[in-house]
Amino acid sequence: MYDWLNALPKAELHLHLEGSLEPELLFALAERNRIALPWSDVEALRAAYAFNNLQEFLDLYYRGADVLRTEQDFYDLTWAYLLKCKAQNVVHVEPFFDPQTHTDRGIPFEVVMRGIKGALVDGEKQLGISHGLILAFLRHLPEEQAFKTLEQAMPFRDAFIGVGLDSSEKGFPPRLFERVFAKARSEGLHAVAHAGEEGPPEYIWEALDLLKIVRIDHGVRASEDERLMQRIIDEQIPLTVCPLSNTKLCVFEHMGQHNILDMLERGVKVTVNSDDPAYFGGYVTENFMALHEGLGMSEAQAKRLAQNSLDARLV
Ligand code: ADE
Ligand code: ZN
Repeated sequence: MYDWLNALPKAELHLHLEGSLEPELLFALAERNRIALPWSDVEALRAAYAFNNLQEFLDLYYRGADVLRTEQDFYDLTWAYLLKCKAQNVVHVEPFFDPQTHTDRGIPFEVVMRGIKGALVDGEKQLGISHGLILAFLRHLPEEQAFKTLEQAMPFRDAFIGVGLDSSEKGFPPRLFERVFAKARSEGLHAVAHAGEEGPPEYIWEALDLLKIVRIDHGVRASEDERLMQRIIDEQIPLTVCPLSNTKLCVFEHMGQHNILDMLERGVKVTVNSDDPAYFGGYVTENFMALHEGLGMSEAQAKRLAQNSLDARLV
């Protein structure tokens, strides 16, 4: 089954480039940049990948991202991810990057952008993987700083296709970012947002009605609100679901409880994605495989999920 799932043509629509930083590369970059790490080796770091919730993961994820310093570092990070995509027949990617995680450490925006974009363009030419890059705002920081980030990004307007919203969800509702999303949309950018991962269905309503998003990242808690479910089905709003992430971050206790296939059968346009594969135990194929093993996903269902990912592309 693994090889069959691996061979399916797929798109990945929910992937944080910083979350694809494998421990081996993290250690290599730390050495290259002469950064001391609190872990003795790769195994010790991997052992720290046990999380009870989103925040525990984010604390480690931001710590890990600190080894990314130069344009080459961002290139290497992105290129390593694209090689994984090639090996798993992921033919199109719409990855996120978190500029504020880097600019707040003094890394110039253009260093981040040039490294990532350089690898994506090479990936298109050398690996045949098409892409659309999404700039994600960190929701635990004020909207004012998101505005500043958008301003920094505008000289590179053609390098990305949309804006997203990520980081700590509870206590940081989408309505806090209504104005910056309006500004981004006025520039012709697509809008997406993480909503309903840990946060309540109300956050999904806000993301749709106030941020005017065209795709929901996670959105698994939509199933708690029947009226919302009906809207998502009627309007065929895609959900970028990340099964291994959801179990690693205890959104669901185990894969047997995951609601993705119930949603699929109800007509929701759900897709399968890896979120932060270096931290959650696998890339897209491993996520498909987990659905097969934990939920009994059939080949027919896998085909529909893969087709949904190709249909839900923004570009
Ligand atoms: N940043 C990286 N992964 C994330 C996730 N699963 N939720 C929110 N922010 C994130
Ligand atoms: Zn995410």
